Order: sequence, then C-alpha cells, then structure tokens
Amino acid sequence: RPKVTLNTLTSMYKKGDPITMLTAYDFPSAHVADHAGMDMILVGDSLAMVALGLEDTSEVTLEEMIMCSRAVSRAVKGAFTVGDLPMGSYEISPQQAMTSAFRLLKEGRVQSVKLEGGASMAPTIKAMTDAGIPVLAHIGLTPQRQHALGGFRVQGKTVKSAMALLHDALAVQEAGAYAVVLEAVPAPIAEMVTKKLRIPTIGIGAGNGTSGQVLVQVDMLGNFPPGRYVPKFVKRYGDVWSEALKGIEAYKEEVKSRAYPAEEHGYAVKEEVVNNFQA
Ligand code: KIV
Ligand code: NA
Repeated sequence: RPKVTLNTLTSMYKKGDPITMLTAYDFPSAHVADHAGMDMILVGDSLAMVALGLEDTSEVTLEEMIMCSRAVSRAVKGAFTVGDLPMGSYEISPQQAMTSAFRLLKEGRVQSVKLEGGASMAPTIKAMTDAGIPVLAHIGLTPQRQHALGGFRVQGKTVKSAMALLHDALAVQEAGAYAVVLEAVPAPIAEMVTKKLRIPTIGIGAGNGTSGQVLVQVDMLGNFPPGRYVPKFVKRYGDVWSEALKGIEAYKEEVKSRAYPAEEHGYAVKEEVVNNFQA
C-alpha cells in the first residue's frame, strides 16, 4: 500500500473517512498493526506500563522512547508514525521540546511527535511546527498529568470544562498541530469540538463523532492477564493473553512428557556416524 503522509490524512479528513490509529511499542506489535493497514501508528508512552511494567507514564525516559520508536519504525512500511514525547522532555521550554523532538525524529526515526497539553503548550507547538516538526496534540485527559488532574478523570463534563477543552483545541490548531487527540471526553462534547476545528480529532474514549480513533494495542487485543484494569472505552477484539498462555502451557506439558521435540523437529544423521561416535 502507498505510504500514509500528512496529505493522506488531510484528504481522509476532508472526505470524512475515519482515521485509524493504534499504539505499538516494538517490532512485532508495529509489524502486525502496519500489516493490518492502520493509517497511523503511535509509539505511546503507555509503553511504560504495557511494555516496561512501570506504574505510570511519568517514569519513562526519552532514551526508552527512542529505543522503542526505532524498533517500531523498522517494522512500519505504510502507516504514518508518531512518537510520544515523555513527561519532562518538553515542558520546560520550546527549545527543550525541539531538542527532544529532533532526537525522537532522527534517532527514533518516527515521522511526527505527540505531546500533552492545550493552550499552555501552544507557543511550544508553534515553535516546533515553525521548525518543521509535525506535532500531534493531546488534550482532555492527559495521563502524564494524572496526579495534577487528581487521577484519571473524564474531561469536559461541565460547561466550564467543555469550554476549556474547546479553547485548548482551538489553541493547538492555531499553533499548527496537524491533528489533536481527545481523550476521555463525553461523545457530544467531542463531536462539537470536532465540528469547530479544521484539523482532525483522534478520539480515545470520546465517542464516534471524532475524525478518527486510537486505542492501546495490548488493551484491544486482550494481551494482559485477567483482572487487570482496563478503561471503560476499551473494546476487546482479541484474547491474545489466553492464546499465549495456552501455547506456553502446552509446550511445558510436552517438554515434561518428552512429546516435544518429536522426530520431525530434529536433524538426521547417518547411522555409521552415530556408531563410530559411540565406539
Ligand atoms: O500513550 C498512549 O498510548 C497514548 C494514546 C492512548 C493516545 O497517548
Ligand atoms: Na501517551
């Protein structure tokens, strides 16, 4: 398939063709997402939890994001790639943000970067886009600020909060963001914000009135042990953890019973070699 570019995304947006986006954090997860035809692949800092086992995204470093981005980029042939700027790598100044973004682009080899924040990040987004860095903004529930927000809370549930969301969306648009992620926003509010913009909105927990959707791959594939918390907006399209468990348990049983490896898994040798070797 032809490589997805910013022009492709713009024309999809203009046609009202929903943009599909999924996270990936290593070569195999990126390979399957690209093969399935995702328009966009995000190396999300959610990899802190789903790939590195950290408590939340605040611990993940730019170096770790670069390493994962490199692995993802090697697998992606068609999708437009995005790398998350981790907490602490872009908030201090536009210069810091640009330095981090260029590392993610050049060393991580992604095609664009994502950062969290609305109106307060607009001057940074402007400086970045002026420097030729394509920026995907992320507003609503911004997980890097979970402690500042008082936890994972739905955003835009009051008139005041919905107005703030719209203000943020317009600010990042004016600053030059090519699209904006809306996370954990009531569907009617996300739809109204989408209608006020001339750039695509990518929703997660924001209903189906946005210009596209994004999910965390391990969540939607069910690649996690039973009992782990997943947000309400996640739909499970697979049961990868159970499949993996079944396979590994079967392998264990067959090693224990010596059913594996069978003759067909081995290499042949001439009998005389065996005999002389024994002699
Ligand atoms: O880190 C991530 O996976 C994200 C998406 C859920 C938007 O930021
Ligand atoms: Na993220």
